[in-house]
Parts: sequence; C-alpha cells; structure tokens
Amino acid sequence: MKVIIRDNGKEASLWVAHRIADAINAKAKVSDKPFVIGFCTGSTPLDTYAELIRMVKAGEVSFKNVISFNMDEYVGIPVDHPESYHSFMYHNLFDHIDEPKENIHILDGNAPDLAAECESYERKIVEAGGFDLFFGGIGEDGHIAFNEPFSSLQSRTRVVTLTEDTLRVNSRFFGNDMNKVPKQAMSVGVATVLSAKEVVILALGPKKARAIKESIEGPMSHMVTVSALQNHPDGIIVLDDDAAGELKVNSYRYFKAVEAAEAR
Ligand code: GLP
Repeated sequence: MKVIIRDNGKEASLWVAHRIADAINAKAKVSDKPFVIGFCTGSTPLDTYAELIRMVKAGEVSFKNVISFNMDEYVGIPVDHPESYHSFMYHNLFDHIDEPKENIHILDGNAPDLAAECESYERKIVEAGGFDLFFGGIGEDGHIAFNEPFSSLQSRTRVVTLTEDTLRVNSRFFGNDMNKVPKQAMSVGVATVLSAKEVVILALGPKKARAIKESIEGPMSHMVTVSALQNHPDGIIVLDDDAAGELKVNSYRYFKAVEAAEAR
C-alpha cells in the first residue's frame, strides 16, 4: 500500500485529481477502450471534483470516453432530493464535465426490486470492462462506500442497513435530524472496490485519523472495511496532515521517505 501525505486537504485533493486525470490520459494514449472509474460522494471529494472540472474546461482531460459507477446511494429518497447522491454527483461533477449521460451509473435506490438492481449493477461493471480506478472516501469508522463494520470483505453490491454512527454523522446533511437520514442504502461491496486495477482513497481531517491509523497499521479486519486495501496490489491512501495525525511517527516518516525517494 502506498500512502501519500500532503500538508493540507487542498493539496491532497489536487494530488488525487491529477492522479485520476493522468490515468485517464494514459489509457487514452494506448487504447480506444473506455476508462472505467468508481466515484464517491461526501465532503471529501469536493475539491478533487472542482479540480477535475477545471481540468476539463482547460482541455487537460476529457471524460468523453469515461464510464463511471458511483459507489452508493440511499434507499427510498427521491432522485431529485437535494441529499440524494444523484443530486450530489450532478451538482458537483457531472453537470460540469463532458462525460456522456449514458456513461453515468448510479444505483437506483427506488428500484422496484433492489436486489435485482444490485445484481444488474455488478453485471454492468463487468460489461464495461471492470474498473481501471476506484476513487473513494471513508467514513469515520473506516467504512468504504457504505460497507459498515462487519461487512464481509468479499461483499458485492447489495442493500445495507446503516449503523447508528453513520446515521449520526450523516444527519448533518439532513438538518441534524438522525430520523430524517434513510436507514438503508445500496452500496458496492468491498470486493467490488478491490476488483479495480487501482484504488485511490482520500481521507481528510482529524475525524478520519483513528480510522486511518487502524486501516494502515492495524490488521485487515471487517471492523474497518477500508483495511481490506492492505490486500490490494495497487492501493493508494491520500491524506492531509490531520488525517495522518494518529499514525506512528515511524510510519509517517516511512511514507514520506518512500515518496521523496520515488520523486527523485
Ligand atoms: C458516507 C458515504 C461514503 C463516504 C463517507 C464520508 O458514509 N457512504 O462513501 O466516503 O460518507 O463522507 P465525508 O467525505 O463527508 O466525510
């Protein structure tokens, strides 16, 4: 696992945006096949998306041959609800880039048969050629997508019940009222994320520091589902200094030294 640490959230976010753009451009140079990417929501990816929008407008990258799959969506809230992940993605990214609408995939939390919707999502990912890169954030308890503690590390796309912790954390988007947060969501599984050729996780701020410590220095565990990245051949965790704040001094120095050596 590679860990990139930047002084602040802005720099960490820019690092991720440029990594995504470089990967899209690198594939476009050698192949006509679409670049398949996994996207996340939350406050964490906002600066990354803003930078990708800037790069598209500046002609530095194009999403015309990109197919995307979002990692999760709440069950049972209208697509046009301001807090649906559909709304989030269009507002913060898709409305401002050149990705064709038919290439955009977000789980339908109002599908009549949710299980069938999950199965068909997994099928569509395979049909698209599988993920080249999965970009994710993490919850305060180290969950990836909505793979809450005790999710199988072999899990695939399915309906999940949100933990009380997540309901509390996400209530900030629902007028601080936990009862307004949908109790269920649909989420790609841990194994779905890990099926990507490259996984880039961004974690910012002190509230993520404990989960980051556990996922990087602790054992791989279903308690902290992002720790499954330890088993991925090309996993990168990108942090600001605050999110790296609980790593051991030796781990911190090691990751900084590796980066400095590779930059030479
Ligand atoms: C939710 C989402 C996750 C996201 C997490 C962190 O739980 N399901 O995909 O990574 O929130 O959100 P934030 O970036 O706002 O801290």
